[in-house]
Amino acid sequence: MTTLPTIAPERLPELLRAMPKAELHIHIEGSLEPELIFKLAARNGVQLAYPSVEALRQAYAFSDLQSFLDIYYAGASVLLQEQDFYDMAWAYFERAAADHVVHAELFFDPQTHTDRGVAMATVMAGLHRACLDARTQLGISSALILCFLRHLSEEAAFDTLAAALPFKDQFIGVGLDSSELGHPPEKFSRVFARCRSLGLHVVAHAGEEGPPAYIWTALDDLKVERIDHGVQSIQDPALMARLARERVPLTVCPLSNVKLCVYSDLGQHALKHLLDAGLAVTINSDDPAYFGGYMNENFVQTFAALPLDAHDAYRLARNSLEASFVDAATQAGWIARLDDCFASFR
Ligand code: ADE
Ligand code: ZN
Repeated sequence: MTTLPTIAPERLPELLRAMPKAELHIHIEGSLEPELIFKLAARNGVQLAYPSVEALRQAYAFSDLQSFLDIYYAGASVLLQEQDFYDMAWAYFERAAADHVVHAELFFDPQTHTDRGVAMATVMAGLHRACLDARTQLGISSALILCFLRHLSEEAAFDTLAAALPFKDQFIGVGLDSSELGHPPEKFSRVFARCRSLGLHVVAHAGEEGPPAYIWTALDDLKVERIDHGVQSIQDPALMARLARERVPLTVCPLSNVKLCVYSDLGQHALKHLLDAGLAVTINSDDPAYFGGYMNENFVQTFAALPLDAHDAYRLARNSLEASFVDAATQAGWIARLDDCFASFR
């Protein structure tokens, strides 16, 4: 869209909710709402450490990434059967559709499940079936990205890749998540090289809590196509210049960053500075069941806290569509819908 229509500031939340967008940073295990955790626990006979939904929700007060991960992995322990993985992903897709997400690339953490004795085939079948139904029943396009847990060894990542390869047509890429500090990207250089040689897309969490050096090595050693989070790049002008020049997408998760104490409040978030410096910033929900909101909540709260306008809304939505791993013709169709949406707010 060459010239954006003038949009009254009071209509901005409505526009943010209505505009078509892609979600590129959602851990599907982080979409497990407490109600569904309790339902699956009862269905599977799993004993939880909390007596009620309310007690579990009250435990969602985090001081850093690790304090969250401890509860997040405990929550995932209720996932045992194919139908559990399906139900979790389906619940996410219903919420994403309501937020006008047209395309979602879902992270999943197979090691969290296979290390408990759940078969890779069970995980893949449930998630893949939900993706197929999301397309036919909700009109949402989606893809799966397998994440390696970085607190585990590279050898364990190689084993996980081997277990997943029989299902290679059901995921489009690999990522790197879990405890960042002390586990730099270069720990996984060889397994990422192998994944690239297999034609998989590669992304990695870097610069969430970790230093800018981790973003440099994610780019140079892992050769990632997108950086997940990446907000610590704000500390390194040379890195910011490179990210802007190469248009490396950053999948930023504002509510997550506040819940995990990366920022004291949304008003302190670096998102606007990164966007204005020319970086390909996108907004995403990360672990929405734990961090207080799905896509539209992230957009609306971030715009309420920072000096962002309709032009920024357009840039963020368009960046998300262009940073997705779908073909250019499909992206162009979504961008045309985005343009129509903005035109309808004239
Ligand atoms: N796994 C789930 N959410 C995560 C996050 N925000 N950072 C790293 N690993 C994660
Ligand atoms: Zn994440």
